[in-house]
Amino acid sequence: MSPLVRVIVVGAGCRGEIYSRYSIIHPDRVKVVGVADPRKFARTKFQQLYNIAEENLYEDWRILAEREKCADAVLICTPDVLHKEPAVAFAKKGYHVLLEKPMAVSDSMASKKITCHVYDKWMSAIASNCPFLSRITKLNLSLICFNLNYSSNNNVLKLIDKNPQKTQSSGVENGRIIIKIYLDRVKQGRVGWPLAALCPDTLPDIETVSEALRTGPYGRCVYECDNDVCSNQIVNMEFEGGLTAAFSMVAFTEDICKRKTTIYGSKGELSFKNDEIRVFDFLTQKATNYVVSVDCPKNFDLSGHRRADYCLIDSFISAVAVSLL
Ligand SMILES: NC(=O)c1ccc[n+]([C@@H]2O[C@H](COP(=O)([O-])OP(=O)(O)OC[C@H]3O[C@@H](n4cnc5c(N)ncnc54)[C@H](O)[C@@H]3O)[C@@H](O)[C@H]2O)c1
Repeated sequence: MSPLVRVIVVGAGCRGEIYSRYSIIHPDRVKVVGVADPRKFARTKFQQLYNIAEENLYEDWRILAEREKCADAVLICTPDVLHKEPAVAFAKKGYHVLLEKPMAVSDSMASKKITCHVYDKWMSAIASNCPFLSRITKLNLSLICFNLNYSSNNNVLKLIDKNPQKTQSSGVENGRIIIKIYLDRVKQGRVGWPLAALCPDTLPDIETVSEALRTGPYGRCVYECDNDVCSNQIVNMEFEGGLTAAFSMVAFTEDICKRKTTIYGSKGELSFKNDEIRVFDFLTQKATNYVVSVDCPKNFDLSGHRRADYCLIDSFISAVAVSLL
């Protein structure tokens, strides 16, 4: 039988919550034994859900990192700027580390030293959330992609309104869109992303979400406020040996949060989209289709990124469990 993996969660926001729910589905495989988050609401929620001892609730990751090692692995799900420091600190303590992307937010932060620190000594993963890759290449390919990805991430593009003409109806239009995106979800009884992001200190309901939209950052028009989130990004990579790869990220798509990949080889090409893999053989000129089936329990928000969140935490916990044998 696989050993029980004890994890601590650093950053009990949206990502921390999603990965932790794996322990509800598989209580025989994982136990969440500690949490660090400055928000009391988040700590209490975790304590109640996972029955965490009072002394294992922390307001800051640093206090937890200073303590004697109390788990096998740590899930680092803090905001972008708080990735490098905890990753290095917990890795030094001998924890297996699942680090949310990006590894760092600037070139200087992401020195080779960190990479060596975290990866050479301990089994670590950076969350890449691609179902196909997480199944087949698990950790390595995602590490490569994200190591290269962040260093080209400095060219932040501001969202540009393609139709900047202001009309009287634009406010009304924005209001309609907001109602569609957020309030329709509340009415359906949904409480996870994106509603949880709006209400970090309360449970999302009509009242709290409406208040957050009135007074918080999410009720603003992205084109008119100070939002500097990158809306599209293209990264070209060249690997040793001459292999090249191009990565495109686009914010506005019909397929929200879905990934498509095509790999071109000398004898054929392989592409995948959703649950289908298609292999085309240049010699025979024939295509073969495969359907990937990934068992993923429903209703735990782990179906995010087309089940990749589930696959990612499942792979990580399996790898940690093997290391404990
Ligand atoms: N892999 C993916 O698909 C994916 C998707 C969304 C976000 N992300 C990344 O995951 C990370 C977390 O995103 P999120 O959406 O969960 O954000 P979030 O704001 O919901 O969660 C971050 C949490 O970290 C906590 N925190 C802040 N300072 C802390 C500290 N000193 N010690 C401990 N906890 C602290 C915050 O209170 C918050 O609860 C980000 O880096 C984001 O870019 C990845």
